[in-house]
Amino acid sequence: MSEAMGEWRRSKYCGQVTADDEGSTVILMGWCQKRRDHGNLIFIDLRDREGMVQIAFNPDRSGQAHQAAESVRSEYVIAVKGVVSKRPAGTENPRLQTGLVEVLADEVLILNPSKTPPFAIESVTDADESVRLRYRYLDLRREPMLQSIRLRHKVTKAVRDHLDANGFLEIETPVLGKSTPEGARDFLVPSRLNPGFFYGLPQSPQLYKQLLMVSGMERYFQIARCFRDEDLRADRQPEFTQIDMEMSFVGVEQVIDIMEGMIAAIFAAAGRDLPELPFPRISYDDAMARYGNDKPDVRFDMELCDISDIAAGSDFKVFRDAVASGGQVKGICAPGTAGYSRREVDELREMAAIYGARGLAHISIENGEFKSPIAKFLKTDDLQAIATRLGAGEGDMMLFVADKPSVTAASLSHLRLQLGRRLGLLDEHKDAFIWVVDFPMFEWDEREKRLTAIHHPFTSPRDEDLAMLETDSLKVKALAYDIVLNGVELGGGSIRIHRRDVQQRIFDLMGMSVEESRDKFGFLLDAFEYGTPPHGGIALGLDRLIMLLSGQDSIRDCIAFPKTQSGSCLMTDAPSGVYGDQLKELYLKSLA
Ligand code: AMO
Ligand code: AMP
Repeated sequence: MSEAMGEWRRSKYCGQVTADDEGSTVILMGWCQKRRDHGNLIFIDLRDREGMVQIAFNPDRSGQAHQAAESVRSEYVIAVKGVVSKRPAGTENPRLQTGLVEVLADEVLILNPSKTPPFAIESVTDADESVRLRYRYLDLRREPMLQSIRLRHKVTKAVRDHLDANGFLEIETPVLGKSTPEGARDFLVPSRLNPGFFYGLPQSPQLYKQLLMVSGMERYFQIARCFRDEDLRADRQPEFTQIDMEMSFVGVEQVIDIMEGMIAAIFAAAGRDLPELPFPRISYDDAMARYGNDKPDVRFDMELCDISDIAAGSDFKVFRDAVASGGQVKGICAPGTAGYSRREVDELREMAAIYGARGLAHISIENGEFKSPIAKFLKTDDLQAIATRLGAGEGDMMLFVADKPSVTAASLSHLRLQLGRRLGLLDEHKDAFIWVVDFPMFEWDEREKRLTAIHHPFTSPRDEDLAMLETDSLKVKALAYDIVLNGVELGGGSIRIHRRDVQQRIFDLMGMSVEESRDKFGFLLDAFEYGTPPHGGIALGLDRLIMLLSGQDSIRDCIAFPKTQSGSCLMTDAPSGVYGDQLKELYLKSLA
């Protein structure tokens, strides 16, 4: 058995062998996907990055090759020299790109054996994700993983080309820096040279990119790694990548234009049909009212309807009280579900309860009649008016939540998405982009008892709202925008504050003292005093974009080496303890 490649040189990838190669000698290198031993004849499906081809080992042709093939097992790495030949009639494999041909082996090198892998390297796997993550290098051999890595490469290349053509400069910013608050916790890195001091890993390059505008770079972009110590979910990783950009002398419309052009380029690179441009827009207030969240999935309707006015005058105490105490009653219509059993309705109620709903009232329309435990509390005219408002008809069921607005929104928006999927209203093959605009500048943080910025504190309020910044803070709208694809927040950005006085007012309103703002952002405030151009930008979550483009359910499948829900890497065991003197050198002591 030979393990040395010597002067062997691969002539092409397995997946690229075609009928045009018939009669020519090729040298292929790759992994054994499968070996079939037919006694005299042995077949190996040889796989590399570009695909697979069948190699035939016939002892009459080459005893050496046949003998070597006998010892080959799954995932052995081998090199084969052989002649491309049309497969005998009837043995073609239409499912394989190279299925019309096979390679008749003349010589074989076994470059490296393999242990039996812990799971089969197949497109579809039932291996547990923890096993896949532990053996990530094997998992990445599977076709869908390879495809999403390849797609990611294509997308970043298209982004670079597109932005380059539009005058953007790719500029790197520090990873060891001063932390930028984006609402999450920072990852800190202790400084050995500065005892007791820490770098913060960037939650985004926000401040650096603004400073680059002060520097006169005009148009910046970066495929930037960001770090956020937050609770992880399917679409959140502690380190992730943004397509980050910033432009000088632009307003909202120009940022949106550039972004739509870039998304068109990305979709072209991914070979995917782009929904019509420009993308529709919805105000934040409308999104909350009609969909119950600020990242609406607009692939289907089933909008939330407010029936507080009717509910207020009804005899149903729950409804009346909710409205009387400043809450609201809202509902959705689930088409064709009038026949749901009590158990099915209970299941919906439990779903709503996850988001705080204390109940879920339902009214069905069957045989022209309203059927509901609460129908007796409502006048027929009111029932009719409610049905009309929700667009409900024969065979439909209406579902209602009476509560404070945040609860009605969250619970009904969850129900809407679940029902949309369950009832087949949501076309998984459709892409629906929407811009969410006119965000409020602030929200009230009940826990900290202070205003916080909804986007971030560097976002500019609308000019016309500056006058009421202090007097009517919660009414102030920001020049911020989010781009949403199929109910996933893909990106967000804003036009920034470029005047020092306005920036200081925002910090003041957020309860940040002058000293604190100087300590945290003195460099930015100073920079604003040296001729800062009006500027704005946006950042797109690259991992989420790839997840949506490749039809995956988790961004973990779009990142070569991701972390688990608890922030660990099962392959390397990071994070891990450190050796003896490392902590001492950093002037740290572990309390764990
Ligand atoms: P924002 O915080 O909205 O804006 O982030 C922009 C986009 O980054 C993606 N994203 C994430 N992806 C994976 N895992 C995470 N933990 C994660 N957090 C965010 C999302 C999100 O829409 N500096 C501003 C942008 C700007 O104002 O220009 C910023 O970071 O897709
Ligand atoms: P009850 O009077 O508690 O038996 O409730 C009658 C119906 O009203 C049930 O279907 C409850 O789920 C529903 N209900 C109770 N509280 C609420 C609420 N806050 N919002 C919507 N429906 C509710």
